[in-house]
Order: sequence, then structure tokens, then C-alpha cells
Amino acid sequence: MRLSVIGTGYVGLVTAACFADLGHHVIGMDRDAERIRRLHDGDVPFYEPGLAEMLQRVQQADRLQFSTSIGEAVERSDVLFITVGTPSKEGGDADLGAVTAVAEGIAGALTGYRLIVEKSTVPVRTGARIRDQIARLTGGAVPFDVACNPEFLREGSAIEDFMHPDRIVLGVTSERSEQLLRELYAPFACPLLVTDLTTAETIKHASNAFLAMKISYINAVSAICERVGADIRQVADGMGYDRRIGRAFLDAGVGYGGSCFPKDVAAFIRIAEGAGYKFRLLEEVARINDEQRETLLRHLRDALRVFADRTIAVFGLAYKPNTDDMREAPSVAIIDRLLREGAAVRAYDPAAETNARQLLPAVTYCPTPYETASDSDAVVILTEWDEFRSLDLARLREVMRRPVLIDGRNVLDPQAARALGFHYAGMGR
Ligand code: NAD
Ligand code: UDX
Repeated sequence: MRLSVIGTGYVGLVTAACFADLGHHVIGMDRDAERIRRLHDGDVPFYEPGLAEMLQRVQQADRLQFSTSIGEAVERSDVLFITVGTPSKEGGDADLGAVTAVAEGIAGALTGYRLIVEKSTVPVRTGARIRDQIARLTGGAVPFDVACNPEFLREGSAIEDFMHPDRIVLGVTSERSEQLLRELYAPFACPLLVTDLTTAETIKHASNAFLAMKISYINAVSAICERVGADIRQVADGMGYDRRIGRAFLDAGVGYGGSCFPKDVAAFIRIAEGAGYKFRLLEEVARINDEQRETLLRHLRDALRVFADRTIAVFGLAYKPNTDDMREAPSVAIIDRLLREGAAVRAYDPAAETNARQLLPAVTYCPTPYETASDSDAVVILTEWDEFRSLDLARLREVMRRPVLIDGRNVLDPQAARALGFHYAGMGR
């Protein structure tokens, strides 16, 4: 099939690469000329495991091209995926400016039937609005369909998630669009759910908000664990063996970040409000998430009394492991607070340093955890990179000025840390 993917960010570039790897001819289109130039040259604009190798493979096989021209994308494909960003506006509504601009661009270039698929996460009824917009701009002269195919991949495991999803959701309005999408997804061995547009859009929001709720639930339980002396990790394990609950997304910590959960929870609250329902449950989910940052700072303050003139070593800056994405990373709010209260912050992240430098220029960046911890008054772990699980704690203890360890992701063994003389605090342990 001939496909175009409009917007070559985390979702778009992975979608383009994976479909090309499955044998389709794909154009990756973006309005960012610098990004397209870099992609042409084989330079991947962000870190995602396995993506650079896959892009190289499909570019060499001539199945993936890049372009800044929406006209070219429309002209040379049967199916157009919209994968542009839908960030939060003030107040929490999704900003649909990019989606609307793309729909306008498609309408301007449409000469024959095309299937337009929204893959970006959008509020309910956006698909219907895109359809109306394109029909109005083309005067009804050209046939087309709009479908919704929400994307559930996670950064850090995006290729694996894309290629082996738990389910595929297709929101469609015609038999022709359903057939095209069924054909495209035929090689995928997972349940395929065909719905109307609005239902597909709702599935995406309801899924992300549910996962965020699971995280806030376990974080609330972790606050109780701290007060009663229970261990949140064992509580989560004990809950997780129940198949009705499941262990996934029950890791307590500094809370969720990233470009999806914070914005999608806010957007779903606004969607509910627009539909006349006050989604108090989700408001509380967001509030608990903010509270986790405060809990971590409280643990640190308990150990150091004040932050002024202390040196804090931060391990992990990205919002989660295996990505360089710093969008809504808990590290940003936490480090901002430490700096404002007069601390000096040193930091280490295996992938996100370049992006972090833009957001946190006052931090001293170091190439290893041990250099970061050197002469520091506390180590704070904010991202659960695997390498932090096997830290040499004795060596760490030696280079630090004060043995304070605040484990914001519960990756270390509290007993081992305490046996070495550390003041150790996790989240809910
Ligand atoms: P991103 O910010 O990484 O990428 C968006 C890209 O779209 C950018 O390269 C930008 O230049 C391009 N763009 C913006 N306006 C454009 C236009 N008018 N024409 C062409 N290109 C344009 O975004 P992302 O993280 O890939 O997210 C994209 C969508 O997918 C969002 O709706 C998001 O909620 C959803 N989503 C994201 C994830 C994730 O893990 N990041 C997962 C599932 C769904
Ligand atoms: C999420 C959804 O999982 C994915 O389906 C959707 O398509 C996009 O949004 P992503 O944000 O890439 O994916 O990563 P995810 O693994 O879901 O983690 C999100 C945040 O939750 C991270 O900050 C992570 O640290 C946090 N998290 C996750 C927890 O705090 N505890 C957990 O148990 C799981």
C-alpha cells in the first residue's frame, strides 16, 4: 500500500518506519524542514531503541521517503495518517491547531479518493470535525473517508509495542475505509475492534486515563504504606497476582510524566465537562500525581533539613527509562524547586542530557553516576534506568559527603542501603 504519515515525531516516525518495514511504501511528511533534512541524512531526531537501525533498513530498501510537502504526501498515497502533536492549551483542552492545519492541507491537495486516519490522540468528535472541514473546503467534489486508529505505543518500547499491540482499534464510517484498514493490519495477530469514530476516540482517552488512575491509586496507597509501615512493592505484588487487577502500572514513585498522561488526563476532564459530566475521579488522579513530587521533596528535606547550600545529585532526568524525552518529566519540577531554594544540582542521565540542558541550564551535568554523586549531600533517583539497579552502593557511599539516598522510583534494596550506613527513603516503603 502507499501510505503517508504526517508529523514525524515519536508516534509518526515509528509508524512510518514500522509500516515500511512491513513492506509498504511510506512518505514521512513534516512541516519542520530541519527535521526532514536530518531524516534524509539518516539522522534520527530522538532516542528510541531500535529505531535508527529500522530507519536505515527501510531507507536503503527505498520504502521510506521524507518530504515537507503535504501535496506530495496526498498525491502519492492511498492512506494518510495524521500523527501531529495535540498539546494541552491553558485550561486542559487539547490544542487541535496542527490537526486542523493538516486537514486544510489535505483538502487543498485532494484530487481522488483518500482515506485520512487520525492517529493523534484527539478529543471525541474531532474525526467528524475533520470530515466536515474537508468536505466544506473541497465543496464535496472529491470522495474521501476519515477514520480513527488510536495509537497505544509507549516511548522506550515503541517499535515492540507498535508491531505487537494488545489490540487494534479502528473507528470507521464506511465499508471502504474498514476494508483498507483491515488489509493494512492483516499481518497483526491481535484482537481488532471495529467501532464508529467517536467510540474509537473515547477508547483512547479512557485507556490512558485508566492507566494514569492505576498509577495514582498505587501512589495513594504508598502514602498509606509510609504511615502504617507497610512495603508498597509487596502490596503491589500481592494485588497484582489477582488477574482482575494485574501487576502492570502499579509501580509507586514520583508520579507519571511524559507527553501523554498529564495532557490526556486534562483533556479527558475537559471532554467530560463539555459533555456535562464532572470527572472528579480524574481531577483527583492529577492531584495525587502532583503530590508525589512534594512527597519526594519532603523525604529529602527530612534528611537535609534545608536545601540551601546543599549539593544534590540527581540520577535520571527523562520522564521514564529508554527515552530522551523530557516532556513533563518529574525531574524538571523537582530540580526547579531545589535550585530555587538554593541547592546546587548535579545530574546524570544516560540519554536525556542534551534535551535536559535546554530546560535546566543551571544544572551541572556529569558523565557517570559516581562523578555526579561526588561530594554531594544526597542522591535522588528520579528515573528507573536499569543501570541504577546495579549501582555499587559502597562506592557511592565513599564519594558522597553525606550518605543520603532518596529513591523516587523504588529501584534499590532499602536493607542493603541501610546496612551500608545510608539514610534511605523510598516511596511508600
Ligand atoms: P511530537 O511532538 O513528537 O511530533 C509531532 C510532529 O508533528 C512534529 O515533528 C511536528 O513538527 C509535526 N507537525 C506539527 N504540525 C504539523 C503540520 N501542520 N504539518 C506537518 N507536521 C506537523 O508528537 P508525538 O509525541 O509523536 O505525538 C503525536 C500524537 O500522538 C499526539 O496526539 C499524542 O498524544 C499521540 N500519542 C503519543 C504517544 C507518545 O508516546 N508520544 C503515544 C500515543 C499517542
Ligand atoms: C503512555 C501509554 O502507556 C501509552 O499506551 C500511550 O500510547 C502513550 O502514553 P508513555 O507515556 O510513553 O505511554 O509511557 P508509560 O510507560 O505509560 O509511562 C508513563 C509515565 O508513567 C512515566 O512517567 C512512568 O514513569 C510512569 N509510570 C508508569 C509510573 O509511575 N508507574 C508505573 O507503574 C508505570
